[in-house]
Amino acid sequence: MQQSLITIAYIAASALFILSLGGLSRQETARRGNLYGILGMLIALVATAAAMNVGGLPVLAAALIPGLVIGAILASRVQMTSMPELVAILHSFVGLAAVLVGFATYLGPQKEMTPAEHNLHNVEIYIGVCIGSITFTGSVIAFLKLRGSLSGKPLMIPGRHFINLLMLVMTIAIGVSFFLSPGTNGYPELVAATLITGLLGVHFIMAIGGADMPVVVSMLNSYSGWAASAAGFMLGNDLLIITGALVGSSGAILSQIMCKGMNRSFISVMLGGFGTESGTSSSTAAAPAGEVHSVDAPGASELLLEAKKVIIIPGYGLAVAQAQHSLAEVCKILKEKGVDVKFAIHPVAGRLPGHMNVLLAEANIPYDIVFEMEEVNDDFPSTDVAWVIGANDIVNPSAMDDPGSPIAGMPVLHVWNARHCIVMKRGMASGYAGVDNPLFYKDNTLMLFGDAKKVVDEILGVMRG
Ligand code: TAP
Repeated sequence: MQQSLITIAYIAASALFILSLGGLSRQETARRGNLYGILGMLIALVATAAAMNVGGLPVLAAALIPGLVIGAILASRVQMTSMPELVAILHSFVGLAAVLVGFATYLGPQKEMTPAEHNLHNVEIYIGVCIGSITFTGSVIAFLKLRGSLSGKPLMIPGRHFINLLMLVMTIAIGVSFFLSPGTNGYPELVAATLITGLLGVHFIMAIGGADMPVVVSMLNSYSGWAASAAGFMLGNDLLIITGALVGSSGAILSQIMCKGMNRSFISVMLGGFGTESGTSSSTAAAPAGEVHSVDAPGASELLLEAKKVIIIPGYGLAVAQAQHSLAEVCKILKEKGVDVKFAIHPVAGRLPGHMNVLLAEANIPYDIVFEMEEVNDDFPSTDVAWVIGANDIVNPSAMDDPGSPIAGMPVLHVWNARHCIVMKRGMASGYAGVDNPLFYKDNTLMLFGDAKKVVDEILGVMRG
């Protein structure tokens, strides 16, 4: 294919990726955004294949076809709740690809370059390999932590900040030696830098506790974008540079949004050490205690039907139980009876950004009754029933009342301000952050124990009479 046609195809693909990101930012346009992304990727693949020598096509097919098949099988089988693990391992592939591209570019046949171009090329290779290696090992550790194969507890080696700094300084020093090496003589330095930055990636992510993992996944998403962008520079591929930059910057923005959602500063997340695995609170205040009031499905149905205003707060348990379809039916009945029903979505509810929005969209719950936390938090005092379904950390008042709590300062939904608060979960277990929840012991809280799907079905049965 002519170079000019390839350039046009790359520009079209880049524009489609930008439109895709724009579309994905709102529920109403998310499907369209996804389609733009698929189309952009298709154009990029066809243009890349068309630009290759015919001799290279069998190699491309040998890499692409198994990749497509494995990807399609994995994506169709993955549960929404396991999505963060899948995303983490996919990021590791981008990192590994950047490392491999770096080595191949350095050791492969060199194009004619001026000394200045050659130096710049080596800088691209070195930075690309280092970012790729951190992304690769960091993402593998994040994957193992999210799967539960590695403990979620932060690894706190004494002097860990110093160790990180030392590895960074060593990487820079080795880099200088790499740049000064003629031809491909810098190969040992490149290997050493790969190993050191790989170790840095492991150490970095090992020090981050379970509660901060969501931010880490989106940060690694950002790193994988910059690694892809660096590979684009090495290969002289403009589309890869643009796509990598889009992923890199959107991942950085997402990390920022999530830090805000958890009231954590990005730097403190990166310095690590926050979050436990065992569910023990480090709170210095007295552990919540007292009597728990419970309710059964008929009692909860009665309260819901008598209410004028109900706010539903979905959490991780709704996703595990897959209760969204039955819940949509209950909402329909409540709305038919004239009850004002709203959904309140916390930015880190569930296990991945937008998790709850996807679940509700799956069950065709109308977007106009789904509200973000800031839009709805002041409505609780005028609400008859706050109905918490499989959520825990995001409705924990100790985030506001207990400065010693590991989630202190995290913005939460003020469900306790409603007249009644029904909390639906299987038992008294803590949530992801492993923190006790005093909400369960409040006078206006009614615990409704059981699997969310089973209990919502029971409520539906009662309402249908
Ligand atoms: P959690 O605090 O994890 O609480 C979920 C609750 O659901 C658990 O306490 C559990 O209690 C209950 N549950 C589990 N299975 C259930 C079932 N089948 N039926 C009914 N209830 C069930 O969830 P959340 O309130 O959504 O908060 C999210 C947490 O995850 C935050 O700490 C957040 O930082 C973290 N996180 C978020 C993300 C993103 S990006 N959203 C990613 C990773 C981590 P029982 O066992 O007693 O039933």
